[in-house]
Amino acid sequence: MTDKQVYPVTPEVAKHALINKDQYQAMYKQSIENPDQFWAEHGKRVDWIKPFTKVKNTTYDYNALSIKWFEDGELNASVNCLDRHLESRGDQTAIIFEGDDPSDSRNVSYRELHDQVCKFANVLKSQGVKKGDVVTIYMPMIVETAVVMLACTRVGAIHSVVFGGFSPEALGSRVVNGKSNIVITADEGLRAGRKIPLKKNVDAALKNDDRHTVKTVIVVTRTGGDVAWTEGRDQRYEDLMTNASADCKPEPMNAEDPLFMLYTSGSTGEPKGVLHTTGGYLVYASMTHQYIFDYHDGDVYWCTADFGWVTGHSYILYGPLVNGATTLLFEGVPNYPDSSRMGQVVDKHQVNILYTAPTAIRALMAQGESCMDGTNRSSLRILGSVGEPINPEAWKWYHRVIGNGECPIVDTWWQTETGGILISPLPGATDLKPGSATVPFFGVQPALVDAEGTLLEGEAEGNLVIMDSWPGQMRTIYGDHERFIQTYFSAYKGMYFTGDGARRDADGDYWITGRVDDVLNVSGHRLGTAEVESAMVSHPKVAEAAVVGYPHDIKGQGIYVYVTLMQGEEPTDELKKELVQWVRKEIGPIASPDVIQWATGLPKTRSGKIMRRILRKIAANEYDQLGDTSTLADPSVVDDLINSRQSK
Ligand code: WT7
Repeated sequence: MTDKQVYPVTPEVAKHALINKDQYQAMYKQSIENPDQFWAEHGKRVDWIKPFTKVKNTTYDYNALSIKWFEDGELNASVNCLDRHLESRGDQTAIIFEGDDPSDSRNVSYRELHDQVCKFANVLKSQGVKKGDVVTIYMPMIVETAVVMLACTRVGAIHSVVFGGFSPEALGSRVVNGKSNIVITADEGLRAGRKIPLKKNVDAALKNDDRHTVKTVIVVTRTGGDVAWTEGRDQRYEDLMTNASADCKPEPMNAEDPLFMLYTSGSTGEPKGVLHTTGGYLVYASMTHQYIFDYHDGDVYWCTADFGWVTGHSYILYGPLVNGATTLLFEGVPNYPDSSRMGQVVDKHQVNILYTAPTAIRALMAQGESCMDGTNRSSLRILGSVGEPINPEAWKWYHRVIGNGECPIVDTWWQTETGGILISPLPGATDLKPGSATVPFFGVQPALVDAEGTLLEGEAEGNLVIMDSWPGQMRTIYGDHERFIQTYFSAYKGMYFTGDGARRDADGDYWITGRVDDVLNVSGHRLGTAEVESAMVSHPKVAEAAVVGYPHDIKGQGIYVYVTLMQGEEPTDELKKELVQWVRKEIGPIASPDVIQWATGLPKTRSGKIMRRILRKIAANEYDQLGDTSTLADPSVVDDLINSRQSK
């Protein structure tokens, strides 16, 4: 990377900031040298029903792996998000709801949210939901989704939110894997004026997958559209809420009791149910939210993510609400009704902190600066970026156009597995470099290793690992602890392997270069190549498929699929369209292939392993850098692929 430009902390930002340069250095040092003392102090930022006496009990020793934080403490997440604010800020807005339609918005106070959550917690109880049960949530971005998530935590149930853009097939397998007895959904979602048939998808998921044990489906009315009804199973949210009491005693949870699970893609197999526990997660999510976004009381904070991803969990819901913040919940998309929407929403609600994704910024950038016409965004103070590396051009555009050249950008690197942000600037403490996630948060020890696991010193590029545990770390893969250990702790013994590559520059700043495993990052959404391949080959005309990512201007990465057809099948453009539809149906629109290339054969080693490295180069049009092809079973396959790629 040649971009050496630095944006130093400005005096105005430094004056206002919670943490300055010296404080960052001192606190970071303490957090690494004396983690017990550091986290004992910061663990008190949440309210404990029974205070912890133990702080950190973790080992990355491969044969004795164990991760426990605050292990003898007891607390409840909904109490930390709601009850504890009632006295001091009961009438303050907790959630600003901004609907898909710009005329549809409302504010929900902490008191109202508390009422709704207690009521729905009682509804859950009346439906037989108990501590430790898994509740599947398949909902749009509406206030009720926050209510349902928090109500689960009040009774000690584990929520499993499935992104509303996933297909019935993807939903069904997650319901089955989580052994969920109950699904909460809405009649339809609304996005960019279009209706998303959520209830219909739930019906299809439960009908097509007979391995599930779902007894109850609760349906929130969002559009009032017609939906099919299964008597005895389906219940209307509004009916159940009418008679529910707003008095519900919170379930005391051990710090290490599960809070939620969330599926994410890996390089192999089915998506993994990443499990987070209660105490460490809440401490970490709220602390990172406060310091990284330099959140001050009274700020209006907007994270544009969806509840279906971890960003929606940690930085729309839990982090902000534990901190007593006003968090904006947006149902729509940044370019509806037109591309000025983001700026419009910022002005309308006087947003101070905006947290969004590089793909959204690039999409706006492609519209030209005029997409901010008619808005001034003068309320903004801090900007955030998440989901994929942000290219310096997009970073500078975000800074200059959206932030009027005045707001620091925090480029926050983390993962579903990490629970919260691990590497990011702090606005008042870190000089910014466009494209760099810069420095670790308190308690986080990143390092780089080569392929053999040797630690690299100083300026270097390698695989990104984390040397010791932090409180927000995932604890297991739901139902498969062995897979947890294998996936994250077996590549490099004694270290957590992130799956990302990174560079550390001469100043010690980190630059994330992207995944080094077979995981794609499409518009900030994570997808396993194996998942897309398995969807592809389930089509009757497909013999074999290989999926790779390739550079895409807006999405960051696009999906490129090499397909070998069954003997006798015709490679037509109609079939390409059919295959795209097939993958959308199997996984969801986010997995739509961008390019399908017919292949008569795929480059494989003599042991039959597909060499994706070569396929990535061909997809990216980099034919002169194919590397060593001598280990291929049939090297001529490569020439065929290049020829058919070039003749297109
Ligand atoms: C992967 C995790 C963390 C919430 C959203 C994605 C990539 C994430 C950045 C960033 C460079 C980033 C990594 C990571 N990623 N943030 N600021 N710079 N890369 O969560 O779906 O679990 O994906 O997203 O490759 O491993 P996720």
